[in-house]
Amino acid sequence: MKKRVLFVCLGNICRSPSAEAVFNGLVKKAGLTDMIECDSAGTAAYHEGETADQRMQSHAIRRGYRLTSIARKFDPSVDFDQFDYIIGMDDDNVNDLQDLSSSIEDMGKIFKMTDFCSHGGHYSVPDPYYGGADGFELVLDILEDACEGLLNEVRG
Ligand code: 4NP
Repeated sequence: MKKRVLFVCLGNICRSPSAEAVFNGLVKKAGLTDMIECDSAGTAAYHEGETADQRMQSHAIRRGYRLTSIARKFDPSVDFDQFDYIIGMDDDNVNDLQDLSSSIEDMGKIFKMTDFCSHGGHYSVPDPYYGGADGFELVLDILEDACEGLLNEVRG
């Protein structure tokens, strides 16, 4: 059975599309595209149908990540069934996902991205939307670390 991972942030235009691209890069490099797939979503619908934030795209492309996803809102009626790991970027995302869950099984699928970091000191992937360039770089730094740990967890 293919393992399915869903990355979740607030708007689905900065952090979770980046997580998707970084994770896809690692999955491809490991030759596991037949075994593992991922998607992303937002807890809010503000940017539904939009491509990723231009600032996030330009920081990501410099590290070789193309952000191709189109924003969508998390849908508890299908996403809890469709995915094995549902991963919020910060505590607000995790709390919102927990509020939307309706079973112990759903609850058990919810994680925070930084749970998978091996370099210490980060307890969330901070929202870069209202900040400067450093915030976008920090998002990518944390995601590159966390995605390695996540791949090890998912591949088992
Ligand atoms: P994201 O960033 O949750 O990483 O996609 C944000 C994008 C949009 C907004 C906030 C955060 N917003 O308020 O519109």
